[in-house]
Amino acid sequence: MKIKSAEFVISNTDYKLCPKESLAEYAFIGRSNVGKSSLINGLVDRKNLAKTSGKPGKTQLINHYKINNNWFLVDLPGYGYASTSKKNREMFKGMINKYLINRENLICLFVLLDIRHKPQDIDLEFMMKMGELGTPFVIVFTKSDKISQTQISKNLDHYKEEMLKNWEYLPEIFVTSSEKRIGMKEIIQFIGKHNQDFEPTLSR
Ligand code: GTP
Ligand code: MG
Repeated sequence: MKIKSAEFVISNTDYKLCPKESLAEYAFIGRSNVGKSSLINGLVDRKNLAKTSGKPGKTQLINHYKINNNWFLVDLPGYGYASTSKKNREMFKGMINKYLINRENLICLFVLLDIRHKPQDIDLEFMMKMGELGTPFVIVFTKSDKISQTQISKNLDHYKEEMLKNWEYLPEIFVTSSEKRIGMKEIIQFIGKHNQDFEPTLSR
């Protein structure tokens, strides 16, 4: 699949105000600063479609981008952003949870993890919760340009080992660098494959 067009549609705090659920959509989640917005830009090969920042807490809304006039990419706020107030954190959590639970055209959630870091409880717990909710997800390791290939393999093995303590099967795993555009083709291919299976409910 080729990306021919990518346009910003709308930002929301409430899933009920998101665009009609008649197109397939794919959302990006993970801790603040992990590289969600950068990955969206990398996938569509545009520098500033989604807003990125060196400081965590940049994306604060549910942002819909329409691709090829035919499906959505969704940029979500990061979870566990420590510098915001507890009340704010709870607000983000509520907003994201409601979106994840209620959005019926959400085909797959991309859970982003920084390849440099050891498995963190907040990510492992989030994926456990997705398992309980039955929300399909895959893992995307980000920032692979920042460490050596040897270190990547080592960290990957360690992460898989940790996951297999709680999971019978591992989800699909992508290793990416938005900076160097590594792994973009594979994710676009994955999306293309799933788009073919999407059939909107007639009542919508
Ligand atoms: P929030 O919106 O705050 O939750 O963050 P985010 O997950 O959207 O992260 P964002 O894409 O804004 O990126 C955070 C920082 O990481 C920015 O300074 C990016 O330039 C940098 N970054 C993201 N992806 C990569 C990557 O693949 N390689 C390198 N070297 N830096 C990256
Ligand atoms: Mg962001």
